Parts: sequence; structure tokens; C-alpha cells
Amino acid sequence: MLLTLSDYEAEAQARLTKPVWDFVTGGAGEDGTVRANRRAFDGWRFRPRVGIDVSSIDVSTKLLGCSWQAPIAIAPTALHELCARDGELATAPAAASVGLPFTVSTFGSRTIEELAASCPQAVLWQQVYVFKDRSVTASLVERAHAAGAGAILVTVDSPWLGRRHRDMRGEFAMPPGVIARNLAASTGDDPDIVSPSAHSRRTMDPSLTWRDITWLSGLTDLPVVCKGVQTGEDAVAAREAGAAAVVVSNHGGRQLEGARATLDALPEVVAAVGPDYPVLMDGGVRSGRDVLLALGLGASAVLVGRPVLHGLAVAGTAGVAGVLTTLVEELVDAMGHCGRTTLRAIGHDLVTPTLGARP
Ligand code: FNR
Repeated sequence: MLLTLSDYEAEAQARLTKPVWDFVTGGAGEDGTVRANRRAFDGWRFRPRVGIDVSSIDVSTKLLGCSWQAPIAIAPTALHELCARDGELATAPAAASVGLPFTVSTFGSRTIEELAASCPQAVLWQQVYVFKDRSVTASLVERAHAAGAGAILVTVDSPWLGRRHRDMRGEFAMPPGVIARNLAASTGDDPDIVSPSAHSRRTMDPSLTWRDITWLSGLTDLPVVCKGVQTGEDAVAAREAGAAAVVVSNHGGRQLEGARATLDALPEVVAAVGPDYPVLMDGGVRSGRDVLLALGLGASAVLVGRPVLHGLAVAGTAGVAGVLTTLVEELVDAMGHCGRTTLRAIGHDLVTPTLGARP
């Protein structure tokens, strides 16, 4: 029975080849930060209130110029065709049916134009990297705008891909026929990412600074969101460079082995930028209770990465919709039991450190 996101994960593992499973699941080094992201949620518990009418609960929100049915979005993950034949064409209708934004990766196996045409109801965001060849980044932004995207997420934590031991040991190579068509539409040819790590060394720009974020913000009137901020100082710098929001993210533990859990970094970031600036987070969110803990610690919304790929591998569109619906239902359930009926009612008083788990 597919009751929880762990059930989808176990079923996905049974269906994917080992190299693809390792690519999706693994992180930098020996997966220490991947584990830290998950464990951080055990460090917090709820302080539920009772005596409040919870017969009607509203989890909808308005953020970055669009309406969301719940404060949850799909994080950008490369090459959905690794997990299902139709790739992102299967993901977009699931996001649309649950009413949540879908961030299309630069390395999407389908172009943002194809997705916008095949699923006009979906709220699509485009993730970009700052490439050495700035015209490729600019082209992705322009194409996203023309395709009706709602926001640009610029990933700032990737001078190159992290040292992912599982992929290095398994010599991960892209299966034949899986192509990063979204990037190819901006480079004009097949970008040859047989080895994602080698491709990142050739193309991603390690000289990226906040000046590049200001440059990017000047290319578009769409909200530009900096993904991959892990400190208060950098969140302030992102805001000053023109970002409309930040995502507290360590790339799902895939870049810097030893980075702290994103849930642990979140309060510092929220304190640095204040309550009126949108702070999203991702990393290790695996239930609606996790979503609620992140909101209690100051997140405006969360993104989910791997669980969406698990849903895709298990049952395509229906699998992704199942994962997203589970998160929303669990969030509503937890809010009701906590005596919170709207997102506005969620504050730091909702959460408390787990006794014994923290110094
Ligand atoms: C990612 N992530 C990612 N991020 C990004 O900015 N651009 C990308 O192309 C990708 N690609 C990618 C592929 C795969 C297989 C994974 C698992 C992740 C990172 C992603 O956006 C997000 O930060 C993490 O996945 C969040 O952590 P969880 O939800 O997977 O724990």
C-alpha cells in the first residue's frame, strides 16, 4: 500500500536500475549531509494547541505572484526520463492537478515550451545555472519568459557538481536516449552530458558572484529566486542583489559533504532577512509533518525533490499526484491536530526542540 512517501521510495527502488537509483538517491561524499537533512526533523516537536475550531483548514497561499493550493513546490531535478518514459511530460499534469508549482530543471529531459504547450494549467518555474557562456543562461531565461513561466530559480551552490561517491564508484553515465533537451534548446546542440560531473566542469561558472545575480535579475521582470543559500549573510546578499526570495538548500546534500542540515540553517536565514521576505527551504521533506515543522521554523514554503522522482518511477503522473496529495493531506491533518487553521497562524511557538536531541 502506498500510504507514505517512504512507501513510494521503497517501490521506486524496486523499479529503477542500480545506477539510476544511486544517482537519484545519493549525495556528495558518503551521503552525510543527505542523512543530516532527514535527521534534523527529529530535532523538533510540536506544541499543539486545543480548544480551537479546526473544522475548516485552509493551506492555500499566495507567493511570488501565484496562488498555491499548499505551501509546497516541486524542486528542480534533472532528467525525469531517467524515472519514467514521458519524463517531465508526466510530472507537469500532476503538479497542475494538485495546484502546486513545478520547477523545470535546466537539465530537463523535456523543454519548457513542450511542457507549457502540453499542460497549460501548470505553474512552471525555470531553474537556471550561471554558465561560463552567459548567453546560454540568458536564453533559458528568455525562453522561460516566452513560455509563460512564473519565476526563475537560479542555483547558486554549484561551481561544479559535488564529489558524489556513489556515482563515482558506479561510474554513472547517462543511459542512451536520455537527453537534456531543455538545455539543448538553448545551446543549439546535444549538450553531451554522458558524465554530468565532467559536463559541469566544462560549463558551469565557478566565478559566479552576486554581481551575476544582479545581472540575471536585470534580464527579466519575473521574480528571481536564489536557490542554495545556507547562511544569513548570503540571504541578505541575495536580497541586495535583487533576488525576490531565497531557497535554503544544500542541493539535497549533493554538493558539499558536511554542510549542515537545511532545517538547522533555516532559523538563521529567517532571522537575517526578517519575516516579510520569502524564505523557502528544501532537503529531506518527506511528510506533511515535516512541511509544518519547516513552516514553524519560518519557511514560507518548501520544495520536494526526490519524492517526486519516486512517484514518477512508481506510477508516472498518478504517482507524482499521489506523493503531492499525501503531503497536502498530512499537512492538513497535522495543522488540525496543532490547532492551526491557516498558514498565517503558524509561528515559532508551534515548535520546540526535542528533549535530549539538542544541547
Ligand atoms: C537535484 N537537484 C537539482 N537542483 C538544481 O538546482 N538543478 C538541478 O538540475 C538539480 N538536479 C537534481 C537531480 C536529482 C536526481 C536530485 C535528487 C536533486 C536538487 C533539488 O533541486 C533539491 O535541492 C533537492 O532534491 C532537495 O532535497 P530532497 O527533497 O531531494 O531531499
